[in-house]
Formats: sequence, structure tokens, C-alpha cells
Amino acid sequence: MSHRILIADDEASLRKVLASSLRKEGYDVVSVKSGDEAMEVLEASESPDTGEPFHLVITDLRMPGMDGMVLLQRINKRFRDLPVVVLTAHGTVDLAVQALKQGAFDFITKPYERDELCSVVKKALEHRARDVEEPQGDDERTLVGASERMRKVDEIIAKVADSPSTVLITGESGTGKELVALALHNKSSRHDKPFIRINAAAIPPTLIEAELFGHEKGAFTGAVSSKPGRFELAHGGTLFLDEIGELPIDMQVKLLRVLQESTFERVGGIKTLQVDVRLIAATNRDLRKAIDQGQFREDLFWRLNVVPVELPPLRERTEDVPVLVEAFIKKLNRRLNRSVERFTPEAIAVLQSYPWPGNIRELENIVERTLLFADKSVIDAGELPPDLQAKIGGLAPRATAVATAEPIGEGSMKDIVKQRMAELEKDLIQRALDDTQGNVTHAARKLKISRKSLQIKMKELGLREESKVPEEPTAKDG
Ligand SMILES: Nc1ncnc2c1ncn2[C@@H]1O[C@H](COP(=O)(O)OP(=O)(O)OP(=O)(O)O)[C@@H](O)[C@H]1O
Ligand SMILES: [Mg+2]
Repeated sequence: MSHRILIADDEASLRKVLASSLRKEGYDVVSVKSGDEAMEVLEASESPDTGEPFHLVITDLRMPGMDGMVLLQRINKRFRDLPVVVLTAHGTVDLAVQALKQGAFDFITKPYERDELCSVVKKALEHRARDVEEPQGDDERTLVGASERMRKVDEIIAKVADSPSTVLITGESGTGKELVALALHNKSSRHDKPFIRINAAAIPPTLIEAELFGHEKGAFTGAVSSKPGRFELAHGGTLFLDEIGELPIDMQVKLLRVLQESTFERVGGIKTLQVDVRLIAATNRDLRKAIDQGQFREDLFWRLNVVPVELPPLRERTEDVPVLVEAFIKKLNRRLNRSVERFTPEAIAVLQSYPWPGNIRELENIVERTLLFADKSVIDAGELPPDLQAKIGGLAPRATAVATAEPIGEGSMKDIVKQRMAELEKDLIQRALDDTQGNVTHAARKLKISRKSLQIKMKELGLREESKVPEEPTAKDG
């Protein structure tokens, strides 16, 4: 199936030329003359029987009626994964910057060049994930939390938001690093200036330099026009260097130089540029370890790590689960057109017992799936998605089953509890071992106890360690 592209432009001649260029490249093209029509076509494309989804929208910014900027916002709300490329007239880079800030994938200046068009379209279709901040309702992008540790994070944000110092945000995937970066920007005096994000992991290494610093026409094959980099786009505002741990080492050197000299040149350019940008970096890697392994430059680390913000994993702040669930219910009711009121304390307790390797992103996903299938307004533990129940079910529910299913024997209560406890432990350990093909190190990790404790427990319970499986070195945890 070829990619489908929707073009919105009020100028008939341009529409025609664009459509025919893209059709020659093998794309399916539909073109319309206004933002309103574009929305209509997009909505129809969602219809289950007749609709066919679009993969990209190219829109002019200035159109009568719903203009390109509003169209972009609507698309972001309704069709979050659909990339939008905007067309801007020459000399209106401001508007383009605004569009990028609103979540446009890229922009093309009119009159456009065929090669540029094709390369931008190709890139947009490849990278459907957006590199730029996606606008949402303000209340949807605030940090929710009730734990002491999140209160500390809030405190740091309030303290340093308006300082020019670089902030380095660390934390596991899904802990809210990007949200913290946004909060810092929104609470600073730069809040009405651009917040530009660049994800070092999502951009091919050969293109990073041009993305960061821009390039002049002809600087390399494919550089069919000159283009500002993210540093320039972020002028006056904030530049968020996401996944900084993935930045190739040669780019680390270049970045450090630019940060120290606070000037740079576009790739292939001779003019020295200077911008006023507040830098925020984030990573889920342990940068100190990366430094030890020679993968991250220590000098750059110190330049970035002026204000460190560490986001704890959700399992270390389960007090946040109830308030997060509440916030997600509110937000998702709106988006999914549901009217769920709350989760029961039992359902919340189940959620608090799960270790959340994907952290808040995973929690949000579970709440979304729960709401999607919910036909009641109060959600009990039984209404949580079955796979989550199965993952947790390995633990708690079985325990109660053991305790209630069997008749009470002769011994004292203490003995019975002790014996049943041992059975339960044995059962849990055996299952962890089965799941990990008898690998004690992995089983211990699964049970969240140390390998040593697991071995002691196994001995006590008369479980034998199988020696045929080679074990991993335990010196460093990955
Ligand atoms: N404290 C919070 N309150 C409300 N929502 C949150 C909070 N923390 C994270 N989220 C939500 O969880 C999701 C993941 O957050 P975010 O993208 O900021 O994580 P991340 O640390 O950047 O993850 P990754 O390392 O995978 O990029 C987002 O949808 C975000 O809105
Ligand atoms: Mg992130």
C-alpha cells in the first residue's frame, strides 16, 4: 500500500503542482482548498468501512477560514500520530518556528524545490514519531504527584526555572523527564518563546550536526536549501537535548565547544552565529557509567550537569499512583469519551503492587486500556486489563487462594501461618526459577531480592540450585 498524503492549500495552481510532484513519486494524494475541508476528509478517513488512513498532511499556513496553524492544532488533538508539514512563504520563518513549536514535523518554504519537498516528505513518513513538543491542554501536561520525592522535584523546578543554568534530568524511561523539561520552560520567563526538542537517539548520526546547527544550501548531498538548526529555532527560548546519552562522541566534542564559546556556524556556512538559548538535557542512561566506559565525555557531563534532577521510578513512589490515576481518568475520559469516576481502593492497591518497568507511561497506558473497555463508572481490580492482572497475579492473588482454600489443620495459628508462608515462598521462587530457566540471578531480579538472599531462602526451603545453567557475572548490574 502506498502512503497517502493530504494537501491543504487555497491556491489551486500550487495544489496541482504539489499533487503531481508527489504522485510522480508514487504517493496517493488528495488535495483540498481549506483547513475545514482537510478536517472533513481526515474525519472521513477514520470511518471503519470506507475510510483509508492518511500518513502525512502538507498544509499552507495562510488560508481563509481555518488556517494552517489551527488545522495543525486540530490534527494534533485528533490524530496525534499524523505528521504535518507546513508550507510557508519566504521570509516568514517566525511562523514556521511557531508551527514547529506547535508540533509540525517540518516546514517547506515557498517557492519550494522538488528535491527539498521529496526529502522532507520522505523523512516525515519515516519518522512518524514527532521530534517536537506536542501541544496538549495545559492541565494535561503538568506534573502530578503526591510523594515527598516529587515534592522535592517541584521545589527544584521552582528554584531553577528562571536561572540560565543547564539542567540535566535523569530517570528511567517513562518517569516524566520531558514533562520536567517542559515545566522548567513554562515556569521561566522564556515561556512565550520556543521550546525546541531534539532527540539524539531518533536522528541518524550523520544528520545530527545539521539538525542542531543548521546547514547552508549545498553543504552536503541532500542539502538542497539552507536551513536553520534547532539552536537557531530555539533562540530566546529553551533547547531540550533529549536522550543526550546517545549523542555520538564526535558530536559531544562539537557540542561542548559550542557551549563553551556560545557561537557556532551552520554546516557549510561561514557566518558565525550566536543565540540565547537555555539548555536542558535528559537521559535514561547512567552517564557516569558511560564515562567510565569511554562513551560519554566527562567534560561535557560537567558542563550539562549544573543542576541535576533525578526522577525516581514509579515503584519507589507508589504514593503517586492514586493521584496519577485520577489525573489520567480525567484526561482520558475527555479523549475517549468515557465517564469513569474512579478506581476502587482495591484496584489502586493492585496497581501499587506492580513494579512498573515502563513507569508513568505504562501506568497511563493501563488506565487508557481500562477506560477503553470499561462499562461501569467505578473500576474494580477485576476490570483491570487481564495481562496486567496476570503479571501481578503471579504474586498476590495466589497467596490469598492458598490461605483460604484449604481447611484449617491441627497446629497453632502461628505454625499454620509459618507453614503456609513457606509454601507460598517456595511457590513464588519455583515459578520465578521456571520463568528464568533456573537462572538464580535472573530469578532474584524478578523477585526483587538479592541473589544471596534467594540462595539462602532456597537452601532453607530445600530447593536445589540447578548448576547446569551458566550464570552471569554479578559484579555490575546492567
Ligand atoms: N508526574 C507526572 N504527572 C503526570 N503525567 C506524567 C508524569 N510523569 C510522566 N507523565 C506522563 O508519562 C508519559 C511519559 O513521560 P515523559 O515522556 O516525560 O517520560 P520520559 O522520562 O521522557 O521517558 P523516555 O525516557 O521514555 O523518553 C507522558 O505521557 C507524560 O505526560
Ligand atoms: Mg523522553
